Amino acid sequence: MNVQSAETRLPSIGDYYSATQLRADRWSALRETAESLSVHGVEGRQGKKLLATAEMLFEALAPIEVYWAFPGAHAFEHLRKLLEQRNIDDLSISVRRVARALTSGAYRRRTIPLNSDEVDSEDYEDESALAPEARALGRPYFEVLIVDNVNEHQERFLRNNLHRVRRAEDPFIYEPVVVPSLEDALIGILFNHNIQAVVVRPGLALKSHNDLPILKQYLKRVASGEDVDDLQPSDYGPEACRLIAKIRPELDAYLITDRSAEDIAGLDLGRCRRVFYNQEDFLELHLNILRGVNRRYKTPFFTALKEYSKQPTGVFHAMPISRGKSISRSHWIQDMGAFYGPNIFLAETSATSGGLDSLLEPRGPIKEAQDMAARAFGAKQTFFATNGTSTCNKIVVQALVRPGDIVLVDRDCHKSHHYGMVLAGAQVVYLDSYPLHEYSMYGAVPLREIKHMLLKLKADGKLDRVRMLLLTNCTFDGLVYNVERVMEECLAIKPDLVFLWDEAWFAFARFGPTYRQRTAMGVASTLREKLKDPACAQAWEKQQEKLKDADEEKLLKTRLVPPPDARVRVYATQSTHKTLTSLRQGSMIHVNDQDFKGEVEQAFHEAYMTHTSTSPNYQIIASLDVGRRQVELEGFEFVQRQVESAMAIRRAIATHPLLKKYFRVLTPADMIPEEYRESGIESYYNPEQGWSDKWEIWARDEFVLDPTRVTLAVGGTGWDGDTFKTKILMDKYGIQINKTSRNTVLFMTNIGTTRSSVAYLIEVLVEIAKELDDLLDDASKMEKRSFENRVSGLIEHVPPLPDFSKFHDAFRSGPDTPEGDIRRAFFLSYDEDNCDYLALDDDLMRRLEAGEEVVSASFIIPYPPGFPILVPGQVISTEILAFMRALDVSEIHGYRPDLGLRVFTPKALKSKKK
Ligand SMILES: Cc1ncc(COP(=O)(O)O)c(C=O)c1O
Repeated sequence: MNVQSAETRLPSIGDYYSATQLRADRWSALRETAESLSVHGVEGRQGKKLLATAEMLFEALAPIEVYWAFPGAHAFEHLRKLLEQRNIDDLSISVRRVARALTSGAYRRRTIPLNSDEVDSEDYEDESALAPEARALGRPYFEVLIVDNVNEHQERFLRNNLHRVRRAEDPFIYEPVVVPSLEDALIGILFNHNIQAVVVRPGLALKSHNDLPILKQYLKRVASGEDVDDLQPSDYGPEACRLIAKIRPELDAYLITDRSAEDIAGLDLGRCRRVFYNQEDFLELHLNILRGVNRRYKTPFFTALKEYSKQPTGVFHAMPISRGKSISRSHWIQDMGAFYGPNIFLAETSATSGGLDSLLEPRGPIKEAQDMAARAFGAKQTFFATNGTSTCNKIVVQALVRPGDIVLVDRDCHKSHHYGMVLAGAQVVYLDSYPLHEYSMYGAVPLREIKHMLLKLKADGKLDRVRMLLLTNCTFDGLVYNVERVMEECLAIKPDLVFLWDEAWFAFARFGPTYRQRTAMGVASTLREKLKDPACAQAWEKQQEKLKDADEEKLLKTRLVPPPDARVRVYATQSTHKTLTSLRQGSMIHVNDQDFKGEVEQAFHEAYMTHTSTSPNYQIIASLDVGRRQVELEGFEFVQRQVESAMAIRRAIATHPLLKKYFRVLTPADMIPEEYRESGIESYYNPEQGWSDKWEIWARDEFVLDPTRVTLAVGGTGWDGDTFKTKILMDKYGIQINKTSRNTVLFMTNIGTTRSSVAYLIEVLVEIAKELDDLLDDASKMEKRSFENRVSGLIEHVPPLPDFSKFHDAFRSGPDTPEGDIRRAFFLSYDEDNCDYLALDDDLMRRLEAGEEVVSASFIIPYPPGFPILVPGQVISTEILAFMRALDVSEIHGYRPDLGLRVFTPKALKSKKK
């Protein structure tokens, strides 16, 4: 054992992004130290040093361990005593068992013997190495946080009673963790991801005595905007329940109180599931805890499908593949059966009865599964889709937008929206995102631009036709809107505006408390509460008075307050399959629209029918159901881990001398202009100052950067983004990534990203950097020069990204209006006689410069940036032409190099509008 490594592995708390990582590292450091001690002994200089390290580690772990059931305060003290008594051999064995059980998760399945005289037969077993069938047979484990200021004796009484009421038939197993105060409860639920239920007892105190900065940080986050200092002790319990629901709404809270029922009825208890008056009725509490977790564990459709697959059936229906019949009888496709195994075919059916359900008219388990998803994602209604968010977007647009309605759309949105606008016959106003010229990427749409468009439409007397604002949150590159501010300020101008937030990449966000404040559903429900508050009406009246004669500039500069009668009408579409557990194409539409039932439901149904297959895939639906179960029970943990992984990548690249030379992770300062970063944050991590507090930034800034998306600038390697992706990462190292720009590549972490996959990525980047270093070392002067030219070509000479120009007058109702009839333009191009093809040459540039209006007849989508820089009916500006010419034309979708740019003939543009 290397003594040096054990001794020096005590980085400061500031080096850690999360307390969970800190905990894991402290335990493995303690294991190493204990093992070194057993090799070297406690004597001599080395021995003393090791002893001091071990003591320091115990000291560091003590305030952390009180929030976890395993190994638990009692066992922890036992280990500490072993050290005090210099019983090093036993200490080493016990610490090793704890550390291993923590890494492998073995403590979730069985009691870990900590005494050296007890044999731990499965000492080397790793939970993840077990067969899925074996793991599925075990009882899931969780922890219950009990909040009560009890002494040691009372605590033992609580524990013993909860253990006593366990029954063999219990579907789950849990262990209690007892903490004394409301503040400790809040730290506990943010730190310990094993907690599924919280029992708040009447004896709880208010303040935590824990002053470990990394844990205190949790309180700072939670307490923003909350004042608990003036609470009466009798309110601690109800207040704890309310705050728990605010931070982790998926958890079950139980309040045990001696206050009267009438008294309690008037309080906000968050999502408290039960109030108990009898402190000692442990069986009742136990059954409630299990029932509460089971409510989230249940998967109505997945279970129905499993049941169905067990029933013997005769198929006189479609689907020869059902029950694997067409495969088992085959002589030629046996490998398919062998590859997928029998269950998938047993579960393949076109039946909608026999315990199953119809996605198109759900009344049974699909309906139940959707309702549970609505609960999990904080929606009023949720609809499953088996053909991706591309379809969800079209459904929502068709349901809400009537032909001629004006829709404000971010112009770098996914193509499904552009097609949705065509189908719905919307009058489209494209909103420009701020460009990031240096990286040939777009940012997101500034609120000022959205307000400006709304105010313009208002001044033109068209506000009544404005129907919807459609934005992508987060963007592909991870830019996240201040959803609350956007909705509030837009409602102040247009109080019944419908919002569609494309959260294709943001389904996971609900389960991170920091993220949730920027999700459509999270904000929709707080906004509904806020609008009911008389303070909102007062603030609005006051502001109205102040803004009586305000001009546009003043309105743009003011944070507008929505009127109390504004309608909350919010839709979110999510590709569950992109960020959570679901088979490909599994997506959800979440709704929180006050007028859904009265106005939209029927149209929504029609739109759903328009776009949904009559043969939806049951496996996808079942996976959505299971994906929902997962996030309700462990979404918090997985999202936390995902952020940790991404932060680990940031830190490794920022601190590694060789990586720093060729790569750079783009920071919030790189991707968000200063004016939209009110907090002044520059980066999430920098080697001098450590980590920035994400929570505070997320509560304030106009835009924030989702840290789980890591954009790496690779221009310094001399390779463009696409070459780096395909030739280096994919072909050489088997690393898959999705998006690139001219000089960047995007690494997306997800809930499946592990610490080892992060380590592999860093290893690969180091290897690439080393190879480059070697190459340049041996390079001739000319080769070096060529490399430098390539680098500066990628970093400095990037063509500027063009703005949306305008729709041609032929597709607008007036010369000055921003909105255009994309549908008419789209179908006008169906007639080839209306179209012509032009080369992207100097002649075309001269014609544009001379003021000629040339109009695109197609969507033109260069990759990157991957969205249309021209839509049908759009006037081609000199900037757009210059941008296209600077690109390698083979990368432009919708453009045929052999023919040229598809444009409308002047005659077609003069044709009568219909
Ligand atoms: C912002 C956005 N919306 C929608 C979609 C379409 O989602 P799906 O692949 O689930 O159809 C994508 C796909 O990449 C996307 O990036």
